[in-house]
Amino acid sequence: MSAPESPSSRREFLRLAALAGFGLGIGNGLTSNAEAAPDPRALSFSGIKEIGKTRPRLAGAKPVWNLTTKPMEKVRVAFIGLARGMTHVDSALNLPFAEVIAVCDLLQDRAENAAKKVATKTGKRPAVYAGDENIWEKMIARDDIDVVYISTPWEWHVPMCVKSMKAGKHAFVEVSAAVTVDECWQLVDTSELTQRHCVILENCCYGDSELFVLNMARQGFFGEIKHAECAYIHDLRQEQMYRLGAEGAWRRNYHTFIDGNLYPTHGLGPVAQYMGINRGDAFKYVVSMSSPEFNLTQFRDKNNPNGGRHKDEKYICGDMNTSLIKTELGRSIMIQHDVVSPRPYSRINALCGTKATFFDYPPRLAVDGKGHGWAYEGDKLRAFMQENAHPLWKKVGELAKRVGGHGGMDFIMNYRLLDCVRQGVTPDMTVYDAADWSAILEISACSVKNGSMPVQCPDFTRGGWKELTPLPTVS
Ligand SMILES: NC(=O)c1ccc[n+]([C@@H]2O[C@H](COP(=O)([O-])OP(=O)(O)OC[C@H]3O[C@@H](n4cnc5c(N)ncnc54)[C@H](O)[C@@H]3O)[C@@H](O)[C@H]2O)c1
Repeated sequence: MSAPESPSSRREFLRLAALAGFGLGIGNGLTSNAEAAPDPRALSFSGIKEIGKTRPRLAGAKPVWNLTTKPMEKVRVAFIGLARGMTHVDSALNLPFAEVIAVCDLLQDRAENAAKKVATKTGKRPAVYAGDENIWEKMIARDDIDVVYISTPWEWHVPMCVKSMKAGKHAFVEVSAAVTVDECWQLVDTSELTQRHCVILENCCYGDSELFVLNMARQGFFGEIKHAECAYIHDLRQEQMYRLGAEGAWRRNYHTFIDGNLYPTHGLGPVAQYMGINRGDAFKYVVSMSSPEFNLTQFRDKNNPNGGRHKDEKYICGDMNTSLIKTELGRSIMIQHDVVSPRPYSRINALCGTKATFFDYPPRLAVDGKGHGWAYEGDKLRAFMQENAHPLWKKVGELAKRVGGHGGMDFIMNYRLLDCVRQGVTPDMTVYDAADWSAILEISACSVKNGSMPVQCPDFTRGGWKELTPLPTVS
């Protein structure tokens, strides 16, 4: 049985499954008349005047930007969503200090496959929760879990994070962490109230190029940092937009009602870290512009995917969205989003300082005083990058490549983040980063909707960024 295609067809799927007595999870006592899946169109989108307003801290809440927790020998993890989520399961299975306690997916076979993999590797079968949209609530109520990984469609991220933190767990959530600015506040407020981490699983912050640039930026190699460029440019038309049983079941929906940068964090996360955003600097305002929409409609009309069932969909998200972010220190960031054009993959990943400039895809490095061209590229740059690799890559890079996951960066990320929980130290990406980076989705859309007017960014740290200094990001 393939995954249902949209929130409404998922509801129908569950109704039919209930009628047929289909696949309920083990001993859960739940029936399939579960609450409806969250409808992203019903989310609270802000107007241009309200969106940038900083909300007061809730009574009883405390900042979590330097939150430390009790160290532990083993970090007990559980997983909701087992497509992309399997990469995180694989990482955990290769970490001696992680233990997989439970796995959960709407689809029984995905949960069973994950459990089988864990049992084969460890000899211990994790608990399985499956077959119902809300069965994850049973799982997070257990008292033997420290971290809940959330790798589900975007509309589920915030409800699952909030309830996980309220159940006393740290929430590790896939990108983007949230769809709206209001949802970003929910993450911040819940993390501050519960004193649990809400960590965005921004794997691109752990790529070897990105950690090399971070390493050099921290050592002052770039001089004064003034500008960055980044993007998510990835032609997803075939695989992720129309493939049922995968992202084609839900991702395209966002193209029907939001025109902006729908997936900002892969590009933005790394450059925000180079620039010390939330720790010495902060996003101030955004100006955004979209090109016309052509490619998704043309692809659909030409290929008639899934027997014509998408023929009445109207896509409004411009093919290329370009946004400019101004920071409080006056620096600038250019960020783009295009998942439908025929062009090579790129996150751009560029950093410009007074002493050097790095550009990726392919990697190139210009250095002041070493001529007007690229001082390092090709083999010469590869050798230089290896010499100056980040300590994390030097330490576990070889293992990371063997375990895999986007060239090893998924493993490096999971190693580092779970190790932070094990040690009880603040993870490299706090809830303020999850909120700040994800908020660009709605902020860019708000600017596009208002004729590219500048839109203020909310300060999720409520002024904390002025005093904070960057976290070390070492092991
Ligand atoms: N960081 C990366 O490189 C990367 C790569 C791919 C996807 N992602 C992100 O990961 C997330 C998941 O993407 P995906 O490609 O795995 O999507 P997918 O649609 O292929 O898989 C989602 C999984 O979640 C399950 N699910 C849905 N609702 C559920 C519920 N209520 N309870 C339990 N399980 C539920 C589905 O059955 C499915 O197995 C998205 O946020 C996506 O943006 C990140």
